[in-house]
Amino acid sequence: MLRTHLGGDLRAEHAGQTVVLAGWVNRRRDHGGLAFIDLRDSSGLVQVVFHPEQGDAFKVAEDVRNEYVLRVWGEVALRRDGSQNADLSSGAIEVIVSQVEVLNSSETPPFPINQDTTVDELTRLRYRYLDLRRERMTENLRMRHRIVKFIRDYFDDLDFAEVETPVLNLATPEGARDYLVPSRVHPGNFYALPQSPQQWKQLLMVAGLERYFQIARCYRDEDLRADRQPEFTQLDVEMSFVDEQDILEMLEDLYTKMIAAVGPQFTLQSSPFPRFTYPEAMERYGSDKPDIRYDLEIHDLTPLIRGTDFAVFKNVIEGGGRIRGFSVPGAGETPRRQLDALIEVAREAGAQGLVTVAFGGEGSLTGLTTDDVRSPVARFFTPEQFAEWGAACGASRGDLLLIAAGRDALTSRVLDVLRRRMAEEHSLADEQTLAFCFVTEFPMFEWDAQDNKWNAVHHLFTSPFEEDFAIMGEQPEAVRSRAYDLVCNGWEIGGGSIRIHRPEKLMQVLGRLGIEREEATQKFGHMLEAFTYGAPPHGGFACGLDRTVAMLVGERDIREVIAFPKTKSASDMMTGAPAPVSGAQLNEAHIAVALPPSV
Ligand code: AMO
Repeated sequence: MLRTHLGGDLRAEHAGQTVVLAGWVNRRRDHGGLAFIDLRDSSGLVQVVFHPEQGDAFKVAEDVRNEYVLRVWGEVALRRDGSQNADLSSGAIEVIVSQVEVLNSSETPPFPINQDTTVDELTRLRYRYLDLRRERMTENLRMRHRIVKFIRDYFDDLDFAEVETPVLNLATPEGARDYLVPSRVHPGNFYALPQSPQQWKQLLMVAGLERYFQIARCYRDEDLRADRQPEFTQLDVEMSFVDEQDILEMLEDLYTKMIAAVGPQFTLQSSPFPRFTYPEAMERYGSDKPDIRYDLEIHDLTPLIRGTDFAVFKNVIEGGGRIRGFSVPGAGETPRRQLDALIEVAREAGAQGLVTVAFGGEGSLTGLTTDDVRSPVARFFTPEQFAEWGAACGASRGDLLLIAAGRDALTSRVLDVLRRRMAEEHSLADEQTLAFCFVTEFPMFEWDAQDNKWNAVHHLFTSPFEEDFAIMGEQPEAVRSRAYDLVCNGWEIGGGSIRIHRPEKLMQVLGRLGIEREEATQKFGHMLEAFTYGAPPHGGFACGLDRTVAMLVGERDIREVIAFPKTKSASDMMTGAPAPVSGAQLNEAHIAVALPPSV
């Protein structure tokens, strides 16, 4: 070893000991004729002091710059009273250097390593090894390790076996786009990288494993956002002989214990986690990933408005739409300019407009007069009517109603965006609270207007409710699935389902998705066949590991918890991937590149 101790581990009790340390120059300063260096290693910082009497060492210290790599020999000394540093774990001591060796020099980094300054994202990714040298990023990676360790121990205790599943797979053009890998030995044939280990884990259940988990890398060629990367990691789980109740209870237990173990600074809003069916979540929060840290619950005002002459509302109701809204407590004084900005937000979410109703004053809504109501639709309704709407939304004077009109899909989308926006503007969402909930009973199918067909909302191995098989032909939109999501603070953390385990049922679902027998056999023949050999009832889930870690370290972008993530256009800024390959490599893989004219 090049050293005897880690600097950050040195304490008052080491005083008098001779130590050898190695690390990076975090900062150097000169004071009173001495040179002080904060030396950084994986344990933190320690102050090392160079005296002019140590001629050679002192001279070296004068020349070193930030991020030089040093090895120092010296004696641990207690710091003088008043010069201790409570912010450092080693702040009670300093090391008086007798000898130093420069192990490596360093160019001036493109951004400071010793401060958590805001740095342009692309520069950070271009020099990721320096970005990861920064304390916050190093801590994020360590936390990720601790979480993975916790998960492995948790499942090991419950007799789950971690099994690695293949990365080179058969392409199944369902869900997101696949990443393809050409086969050299099978000219013209391709593997696909796994979007998830879904089929393999189900086959492990057929194999009788009963309890499987995997920290699994997944690949999806989809549009990227703050919570999506082209390659990401799932905590993937599957169990036999279970129902929804077993799985949701396990998820609840897993996350409750994980937070106690690695995120004790967080407050769990409630455990057990509240459960909403999909229709209920959409009705109350306009979203299948509701942020329930705050109320802002959506209410249906249609019964109170039916029969109105106000053309916008009238047309919507006659056209089968509804008028829905929610109350924002204490926002009644919101200035006109800010209300206009909210209308713009609603428009961007697809609404024609947004009706605002601001109640002036304080106390209950009884006895409301025209002067107490500020609304662009004030002349179409009476103060009593506004009071009724307010009461339906649980409002008082001093509050603001935001009301959207239209088809449910539209009003849900608009009101969801507005709920999140108002929570942010009014600081209603406490960052230290984790509000988990489950959303269950997702619809089985959704209509794909572009391709003119029904798609599976979760995936096609998800089991519909047994009694809903009967309506699959005529009313696919009404078929409920046995799928569930785990949501935290408005973020989808995980999802799963009870699966179909009988071949004839799978054929029925495939048929509804427009996958005919021949295609079904070609793509899913192995699953259909496996199900004929005594497949047990089974189900499972997968949670986003990156999202879980981000949540537990308080980051909003999963790139902050992935060592080497890709940019929003799926590039690696450091290595330059993806990049063209040589003609020889293309030939070997039997690939001819045909670029679109625009490239
Ligand atoms: P699903 O597609 O819902 O389910 O994925 C499960 C969880 O994985 C995370 N996730 C992602 N994280 C980062 N980047 C991405 N591009 C990305 N895509 C998904 C999310 C999501 O909740 N096989 C099923 C699970 C099952 O049914 O058991 C599946 O993959 O947190």
